[in-house]
Amino acid sequence: ELTDITALLLSRIRDVEDYPEPGVVFKDITPLLADPAAFTALTDALAELTVRHGATKIVGLEARGFILGAPAALRAGVGFVPVRKAGKLPGATLRQAYDLEYGSAEIEVHAEDLSAGDRVMVIDDVLATGGTAEASLALVRRAGAEVAGVAVLMELGFLGGRARLEPALDGAPLEALLQV
Ligand code: PRP
Repeated sequence: ELTDITALLLSRIRDVEDYPEPGVVFKDITPLLADPAAFTALTDALAELTVRHGATKIVGLEARGFILGAPAALRAGVGFVPVRKAGKLPGATLRQAYDLEYGSAEIEVHAEDLSAGDRVMVIDDVLATGGTAEASLALVRRAGAEVAGVAVLMELGFLGGRARLEPALDGAPLEALLQV
């Protein structure tokens, strides 16, 4: 079961103090990616959630959501769709703005990569404030697709992302493999 892998995953995440700014502890997943046993366990867990919730596509959020979402999509046998920072995708896109602590940001998806028949699992490494995931769910729905859920490696509970995301989930599950 999923709970068996939490110790393995946790042991491969490195705390980097005062990055990217003083007082912040950055959760670095590169040791996990470099360990094939841990990376495989993570991929299998994300793929299992994707299949369990009946998703037909994985949407991965730039940039670490690409690294986790792409192998999970292959393992689950579903397509992979990147949600990118604005200005990176060449085709016709849908664009969604969201608030950051200071200012705002925009993300985009190729409109033709999602359609009415799709059920989408959104995958990322971290749920922090929930702003990025919330905006990605808006994109999924604007593209005409259904939300199967959101799956992240880590939920930073103290930032309240789950509560912020709840209305946008509209009953769909938020799955976090680790609570930090
Ligand atoms: C990080 C992380 C999530 C997002 C979570 O990405 O990988 O995508 O922030 O934050 P939120 O819940 O407060 O929206 P980042 O913006 O650092 O992008 P990167 O992976 O491209 O560096």
